[in-house]
Amino acid sequence: MSMALTSLKELLDNASRGSYAVPAFNINNMETIQAALQAAQLERSPVILQATEKADQYAGFGILSAIVHKAVKKCSVPVVLHLDHGGSLEAVLKAIQSGFTSVMIDGSHLEFNKNLELTKRVVEVSHAVGVSVEAELGRLGGIEDEVSGEVQLTDPEAAKQFVEETGVDALAVAIGTSHGAYKFKGEPKLRIDLVKRIKELVKIPLVLHGASSVEKDIVDMAEAYGAKLKGAKGIPLESIREAIKNGINKINIDTDLRLAFTAATRKVLAESPEEFDPRKILGPARDLMVHTMRNKMRAFGSAGKA
Ligand code: G3H
Ligand code: 13P
Ligand code: ZN
Repeated sequence: MSMALTSLKELLDNASRGSYAVPAFNINNMETIQAALQAAQLERSPVILQATEKADQYAGFGILSAIVHKAVKKCSVPVVLHLDHGGSLEAVLKAIQSGFTSVMIDGSHLEFNKNLELTKRVVEVSHAVGVSVEAELGRLGGIEDEVSGEVQLTDPEAAKQFVEETGVDALAVAIGTSHGAYKFKGEPKLRIDLVKRIKELVKIPLVLHGASSVEKDIVDMAEAYGAKLKGAKGIPLESIREAIKNGINKINIDTDLRLAFTAATRKVLAESPEEFDPRKILGPARDLMVHTMRNKMRAFGSAGKA
């Protein structure tokens, strides 16, 4: 059976009913797209492929979308192509015109009413053409850095109003995670109680950004071949499981893929200095990303759900 791309709403509503989370992997090239689809097929998992405006600058939405649309024809699991951290209505329209089936509008840096207005407009336009919308309320960052508005944990009551007035399909929340490989200076700490409270009030699928675990074996492998990643720290899998149990249904992973890619390419370049065929360098990177992605699908409970 071959599949076309599906909507985020359908995929996440299933996840919400089944109390699991679907991984959303950031894509910037063909190898990462192939890795995600291969992992999804092997694990019988739904999967979300997402691209940022920086991915557009690097590879082009049109090219990424063409690869995804072509590649999913050979898949028998549901796949969503999603805009990650769209910064404007223009970016949203560009993604939709390029064949994305879902968009995120990220107005989290704006004040509440501005975020609400922008999100509402994006929902109108996107829903009119059957495209799902994720929005964000709160500002990502570690709890220890919660100073002067830079980090702003999501307020449950505000989330309720925001979801009711905008009609978004999924909401990204700030509970102490942050983007990148250096998430905590001290012990990892998340506000799982906030997820629980927000889910009680809004009911819709919730999204966790900045959720990479920065796994020790991958960091060790990269460092063994020369990488410098001192102080890298991610979200423990146990916290991820707690977050899922309390209402998170989409989990964004980019950093763990970057680390896997880096570890594998460093290894092959260090061990085979005579090698200069890009396929021999990127092939192992693709394989290690598949391994990382399969682990996520199992840990998030999406494996076996497609
Ligand atoms: O949320 C950020 C993701 O890790 C993607 O980052 O904007 O460099 O593509 P990017
Ligand atoms: P990580 O940096 O933890 O992988 O988070 C990625 C993300 O949230 C993309 O939107
Ligand atoms: Zn993000």
